Amino acid sequence: MTSRLSFQSLSVRGFRNISELTLEPAERLNVLAGDNGQGKTSLLEAVYFLATSRSFRAERMGELVQQGQSAAVVRAQVVEQGVPREQRAAITGGRRSLKLDDKAPKNLASYATRTPVVVFHPGDLALGSGPASVRRTLLSRVALYFEPTALSHQGRYTRAARERQRLLDERGTEARELEVFEILMAESGALLAATHRRAAERLAQAVLPAFRRMAAPDLQLEVRYQPGGAEDREVFQRELFTRRLRDKSARRPSFGPQRDDLELSLDGRSARRHASQGQLRVLTLALKLAELTCVREARGAHPVLLLDDVSSELDPERTGAVYRFVREAASQVFVTTTRPELFTTPELEPDERRDFRLVRGALERTVSPS
Ligand SMILES: Nc1ncnc2c1ncn2[C@@H]1O[C@H](COP(=O)(O)OP(=O)(O)OP(=O)(O)O)[C@@H](O)[C@H]1O
Ligand SMILES: [Mg+2]
Repeated sequence: MTSRLSFQSLSVRGFRNISELTLEPAERLNVLAGDNGQGKTSLLEAVYFLATSRSFRAERMGELVQQGQSAAVVRAQVVEQGVPREQRAAITGGRRSLKLDDKAPKNLASYATRTPVVVFHPGDLALGSGPASVRRTLLSRVALYFEPTALSHQGRYTRAARERQRLLDERGTEARELEVFEILMAESGALLAATHRRAAERLAQAVLPAFRRMAAPDLQLEVRYQPGGAEDREVFQRELFTRRLRDKSARRPSFGPQRDDLELSLDGRSARRHASQGQLRVLTLALKLAELTCVREARGAHPVLLLDDVSSELDPERTGAVYRFVREAASQVFVTTTRPELFTTPELEPDERRDFRLVRGALERTVSPS
């Protein structure tokens, strides 16, 4: 059974350009309208931050705190299968603090998977043609839901890699302690590689039907995990050993899951290099729908959907496909748009939809177009 999950209330303080706002969303669809630069993406980002403890666009957590303020705080009441809970995520003095029902969560993974969300924002259009990091984010998100331990492998791996790099830098390639950190990297890196491969397999399975629904019927998509490291610890450790000199001068490791990628090909050719604009858009959408399917299956709940400004990035036909999809999904949905009048939902009951308008970070309720 798939549980129903929704935000009942949300409050945001000191987050980007939002000084203070509270929101009581509708069960199904929430339309956040507003002109450019008024805080639409910021509000979605606040929801995403509350749910995952991260941002989908910031490089550093500090960016999220409103200029001139000392803290950003997001709170919400979430109801899952009729059971309410409180969540709170804050950034104070550059540090994150997370609470579930007023208690510190067991670990980061348990917090970050508690309220599943899937976001679709303009940066996702780089999934097909952009750098590997965009696809790696997708891979880690899917991995996190299926295997929450991935997050601790990731933490251990990153810390060990940082220490090895510091040693290479300060003491050169012969430092005796290098071996300790290379063993640690090999252990956690190999586990992480296996987790990423399994996540890629799940994604590949989910993406094909979504792609087939939207793309030309004879276009063949293939999705494959392209490991940057190895699943075999000994191989991993040996590679690190032989690459010490290279990694020292490059100032970063040249082997390991931080170089993972998802290889996407259309009719046997690399999508990144050969796909057309339209094909890339379809591919992105299919990958996002696949993420949604994976998260739903792994978590056993309908993820909350956050759609940032889809209609400005997609052509009308694709936008229509997304909106149709939104209407059919059993998820609670938040969409942002500069043109709410284009977003009509005659099939929804009046109480299933709420419309809001953002003006300079403040929110007002507006009347929904029928
Ligand atoms: N830390 C911050 N403190 C204060 N203001 C910020 C901060 N970060 C971003 N802003 C400002 O917040 C405003 C809202 O940005 P946001 O991206 O949410 O706009 P938007 O409504 O999504 O606009 P668009 O339609 O152009 O996408 C911008 O003017 C931005 O410069
Ligand atoms: Mg925006």
